[in-house]
Amino acid sequence: MRFLTAALAAAVLSFSASAYAQKPIVIKFSHVVADSTPKGQGALMFQKLVHERLDGKVKVEVYPNSQLFGDAREMEALMLGDVHLIAPSLAKFDKFTKKLQVFDLPFLFDDMEAVDRFQNSEAGRALLRSMESKGYLGLAYWHNGLKQLSANKPLRVPEDAKGVKFRVQNSDVLVDQFRAVGGNPQKLAFSEVYQALQTGTVDGAENPWSNIYSQKFHEVQKYITESNHGLLDYMVLTNADFWNGLPGDIRTELEKIMAEVTVFVNQMADDINMEHRQKIIDSGRSEILQLTDEQREAWRKAMQPVWQKYEKEIGADVIKAALEANKK
Ligand code: LMR
Repeated sequence: MRFLTAALAAAVLSFSASAYAQKPIVIKFSHVVADSTPKGQGALMFQKLVHERLDGKVKVEVYPNSQLFGDAREMEALMLGDVHLIAPSLAKFDKFTKKLQVFDLPFLFDDMEAVDRFQNSEAGRALLRSMESKGYLGLAYWHNGLKQLSANKPLRVPEDAKGVKFRVQNSDVLVDQFRAVGGNPQKLAFSEVYQALQTGTVDGAENPWSNIYSQKFHEVQKYITESNHGLLDYMVLTNADFWNGLPGDIRTELEKIMAEVTVFVNQMADDINMEHRQKIIDSGRSEILQLTDEQREAWRKAMQPVWQKYEKEIGADVIKAALEANKK
């Protein structure tokens, strides 16, 4: 009897040991936008490739649309291990590092090719590690794209922005950008923007086409000015302890997959934005305004003084490196 009990105990132990050995590592990837956007598509492709190549060893769970954590809590959730990958906009890190504010400076990059060159440069890659002392590790930059201004009145020249209540991301640079044109900026979490626009808590905003379309902002904004005045890109971020604690072979494969997905996201982001721009036009819900060269120049002149205020915090060397990327 005693022998039987011991044998049973051994069997139970070995069963649970093998069950434990087979238990996949779970990676929760949480973000705040829709599946149809560049970031949403990137998260789903990462999940697909991980399941194909690390079958049974790693399980990726994707939580879009602030379903699990919104802007306010995702950094903390990553620190606590409640999620393992997030990809906030580069505008949302100023509590953790001032250097990334470079990406918010209005009219800094000539186009997305320049953004690519900077992100892939030595100075750009170094910024992926700018929050390491706080326990966060940047794995990649993902594009969304350039931002457009939207409002319930036509915005053609900077004077039109006077008194307009603009929603901004959690970024002091963006607050100052709108103050520079006499606007009245208000920081709000992404998940609250639609309702704030609908109820008139704010009457304007800035976002790339894919966010405007997928969140239906164009249904509550009469005008969208194709201004391309600033950037909205992402950093895919993990908890450094979690990442460094993964088995080496798995981490290497995940990093390979991340690099592949990054190429995919950064190549298709512009197509998605153009497709969503067209859908907004087709919907007839919002009028798209084009700027003349002089009008765009007037916005640049009005907003650009903001750079000076942040030069010290960001570092003149970082701004210089970003500007270098404008040269082909
Ligand atoms: C926003 O808050 O407008 C964006 O950062 C949302 C996003 O993740 O694209």
